[in-house]
Amino acid sequence: MILITGGAGFIGANFVLDWLNVVGEPVVNLDKLTYAGNRDNLASLNNDPRHIFVQGDIGDAALLAELLQTHRPRALLHFAAESHVDRSILGPDAFIRTNIEGTFQLLQAAKAYWSGLPAAEQSAFRFLHVSTDEVYGSLEAHEPPFSETTPYAPNSPYAASKASSDHLVRAYHHTYGLPTLTSNCSNNYGPYQFPEKLIPLMILNALRNKPLPVYGDGLNVRDWLYVGDHCAAIRRVLEAGQPGATYNIGGCNEKTNLDVIHTVCAILDQLRPMADGNHAALIQFIKDRPGHDRRYAIDAAKIERELGWKPRETFETGIRKTVSWYLENSAWVERVLSGDYQNWIQTNYTARP
Ligand code: NAD
Ligand code: TYD
Repeated sequence: MILITGGAGFIGANFVLDWLNVVGEPVVNLDKLTYAGNRDNLASLNNDPRHIFVQGDIGDAALLAELLQTHRPRALLHFAAESHVDRSILGPDAFIRTNIEGTFQLLQAAKAYWSGLPAAEQSAFRFLHVSTDEVYGSLEAHEPPFSETTPYAPNSPYAASKASSDHLVRAYHHTYGLPTLTSNCSNNYGPYQFPEKLIPLMILNALRNKPLPVYGDGLNVRDWLYVGDHCAAIRRVLEAGQPGATYNIGGCNEKTNLDVIHTVCAILDQLRPMADGNHAALIQFIKDRPGHDRRYAIDAAKIERELGWKPRETFETGIRKTVSWYLENSAWVERVLSGDYQNWIQTNYTARP
């Protein structure tokens, strides 16, 4: 079996569902269930014996040791993190605790477990660390996309905490020989994404006739990858990646934020036309995010060349699927929008510093 952390979050939950569907090997899923963790994402697995859910913190060394000894996974896939840049600006502490100290505890536990395995299991074991392209910093318009050799230059507390965790993973490979793999992926979108992130926020605000808040001039560029393509890439890295290597994963879909928002609005105009006017009229420019990275872009040539992975979705197909998913899953949406979410909207938008 495999052990994954953060499997109740956006990408982790998509990964668990995809893994059980495609591979079928049992999964132990360790998740703290922070505001971003949601058991509803895994509701379809409630009676599936291949999924063992454990609520707990990756910083809990005793729990990690017990889980590893009890379940004896052949691989550990690490998705758990604090993941939202704006939250890292307003409250970086949790990012240091989970992304840096938590990853350190996980590496310590994995090393202790791995070093006690019989030789064949030891060489087959993998620690796969799921990271982000934000560790590379910001690109000017004319610069080439990030490759695996681009120097790290993280700009937000989130990016700095992920960069730290990447460095720890690298060190555990070089110093102790732990068979690690690191993937650095661009912005994901798709089903089950918490609506603090750009795309689900815009879909859900537009459906409720609320303003669509664009930071700064809206011309910041991100590379967008459909989450299902990210899951397939991670499966491939786990299967065939070189221990100690890092792989950049991206969608070859560079878009400005305004392009993304206009695309979402156009799809909603077709699927849920407004009585009067169109959704793009809800766009509102607001104060920029401090230290806002201008452009991210990924050169995914290495994973394509060495592991034969390529995204299957274009932005146009992926975004249509995504908008439709939010329209078809109103019960999930209603539960996510209730409770603590409103406090975040108040903090980040209504009382924007
Ligand atoms: P998310 O915020 O949706 O989910 C994070 C999950 O981790 C949640 O289920 C949460 O409960 C859990 N978690 C948080 N702290 C924990 C702790 N201390 N112990 C155990 N569980 C904890 O994040 P996501 O968007 O699914 O991202 C998953 C991973 O992918 C992260 O490592 C992130 O840095 C990376 N990543 C995300 C993107 C993106 O666009 N979302 C892109 C590239 C890489
Ligand atoms: P986000 O989804 O937070 O991802 P990241 O900052 O990790 O790339 O934001 C994507 C882009 O959208 C980023 O340039 C910030 C911008 N953005 C807005 O303009 N308005 C918003 O309300 C949010 C959440 C993001």
